[in-house]
Amino acid sequence: MIDEIARLTEDAERGAAAASGLDDLQAVETSLLGKKGAVSGIKRQLGGLDEDDRKRIGRALHEAQQQVQSILTARRDELSSAARRESLASERMDLTEVRPGHDAGHLHLVTQVIEELEDVFVGLGFTVAEGPEVEDDWHNFTALNFGEHHPARDMQDTFFVALGGPREVVMRTHTSPVQIRVMTDQPPPIYSIMPGRVFRNEATDSTHLAVFHQLECLVVDEGITFGHLAGTIEAFIHAFMGEEYSIRLRPSYFPFTEPSAELDVQRPDGSWLELGGCGMVHPNVLSNCGIDPERWSGFAFGFGLDRLALARYGVADLREVMSTDIRFLSQF
Ligand code: PHE
Repeated sequence: MIDEIARLTEDAERGAAAASGLDDLQAVETSLLGKKGAVSGIKRQLGGLDEDDRKRIGRALHEAQQQVQSILTARRDELSSAARRESLASERMDLTEVRPGHDAGHLHLVTQVIEELEDVFVGLGFTVAEGPEVEDDWHNFTALNFGEHHPARDMQDTFFVALGGPREVVMRTHTSPVQIRVMTDQPPPIYSIMPGRVFRNEATDSTHLAVFHQLECLVVDEGITFGHLAGTIEAFIHAFMGEEYSIRLRPSYFPFTEPSAELDVQRPDGSWLELGGCGMVHPNVLSNCGIDPERWSGFAFGFGLDRLALARYGVADLREVMSTDIRFLSQF
């Protein structure tokens, strides 16, 4: 029996070494430690021994069993970390890979358009300003002359943030709140553009997104007229889209401009693109920012950047701007 016991660890060593996978190893374990395995077989014979032998051989068997156990456990660790290494290697993605002759990536279409428009406006003497995407009611609505119960608040389907009092904190619904920040922060004359991401609680379709980008333009100076507004819009559309594009202003309403207009762009094929809104800064808005409306006047316009970017490339569906398809993205 002592020989049989000595053989247990030998068998365990040999079996473990030969096992090329976890299944093989399980079979070795069953044959040695299983119910009908070698250890059980020896245990059954213990009953026929006298007490001294039973103690001596029992102790030897117990030790051998523990050795077998630790041999198998060590091998199991080896095999399973090898299996893990193998599956990691097979699932490995090389995100640093650059294919010869291909770019490693480039800025998104909308980012490119923002940068290009910044260049156009900086060339016209404007500065670039930014504001937060999470706004308070004052900047997004109240300072912009939306009365507390003004129905125009419903024109902009708003995402509210659970901060402060009810409806006090919003995801900005337009870039116009940045006008308030600029006018509060610096005295006129002001010539600024404010690109940024905005949020509307509405269903997505081919002409609407819930998260999109706008570019706001604000001028406050002495003697600013509606003519300056129309001329500036025309100059930037020509610079950005081409001389063959023209603009149209249709009477409209915004609480923060008076008079107000919708801004449309006409494509060379004669069709129209509704781009945004504009108007002369409302005297109340100037006053809210501590600017004397008797001395200063201004214009503002704001439009959808994603729309303009896609229009330039003749892409009809606004949802494409969210595409992660490399075949779409790499066209720009
Ligand atoms: N903020 C307006 C909108 O998002 C657009 C606008 C900007 C209108 C500036 C007038 C002046 O609908």
